Amino acid sequence: MKNIIVLVSGGGTNLQALIDAQERGEIKNGRITCVISSKEGAYALERAAKHGIKGITLKRKDYPDNKAYSVDLLKILQAEKADVIVYAGFMTILDECICNAYPYKMVNVHPALIPSFCGKGFYGLRVHDEVLKRGVKVTGATVHFVTDECDGGPIILQKAVEIKNDDTPETLQRRVMEEAEWKILPQAVSLLCEDRIQIKDGRAYTI
Ligand code: GAR
Repeated sequence: MKNIIVLVSGGGTNLQALIDAQERGEIKNGRITCVISSKEGAYALERAAKHGIKGITLKRKDYPDNKAYSVDLLKILQAEKADVIVYAGFMTILDECICNAYPYKMVNVHPALIPSFCGKGFYGLRVHDEVLKRGVKVTGATVHFVTDECDGGPIILQKAVEIKNDDTPETLQRRVMEEAEWKILPQAVSLLCEDRIQIKDGRAYTI
C-alpha cells in the first residue's frame, strides 16, 4: 500500500474527489495518509479532518522564496514516508529539489488541455477566463507528472469538456471540475499507485 500525500491550497474539491474514490475502493494499492496545505485555514484541511486524515499547514507566506519553502516541505514529505504526491489545487511552484527527490511520483491536475492555457500564471479561474476570451470551443483537464518545467511534465490523462456560449469563468470552472478533473485525477492516482504508468521517450503510457 503506497502512502499518498495530497498538497492543497484552497477549497479542496479535488481532494474530496480523491477521498470519495478511496472510500468507493477505486484507489488501488494506495491510501491518503496526509494532506499538506500552503494556506492557513484552507477548507481542504476540514475535508481531510472529517475523514480522519492527518492535516499539516506549511504556510508559503512564512518563507522568503520557493527554495526555502521547498526545503522544509521536502523534510515533511520524507517524514511522512510519501510514495505518491498529488498537487490538488496546490498553488505554489516548488523548487527542483522536490521534483528531483520524487521523479515520476508527483502528479498535478491542471484545469485545461495542456499544452494550451498552461504555464506560469495560469491557475484557477484565470485559466477559464483566458479560455473564454480566446473563444476556443473545447477545453478540459489534464493530469501530468510534475517536473521542474511548470505544467511541462509527461501527460498521464486528459478529458475534454465542451464550452457553451453563455459560460462564465465560474460556470466553466465548475463543469471542467465535474466532468473532467474529479474523474481523471483519482484514475491517474490509482494508475500510479498500481505502477501502471510507464515513461518512454519523455512520454507517459498507461499499461
Ligand atoms: C482546480 O480547478 C485545479 O485544477 C486548479 O485549481 C482548482 C483548485 O480547486 N489548479 C490549478 O490551476 C493549478 N495550476 P480545488 O481546491 O477545489 O481542488
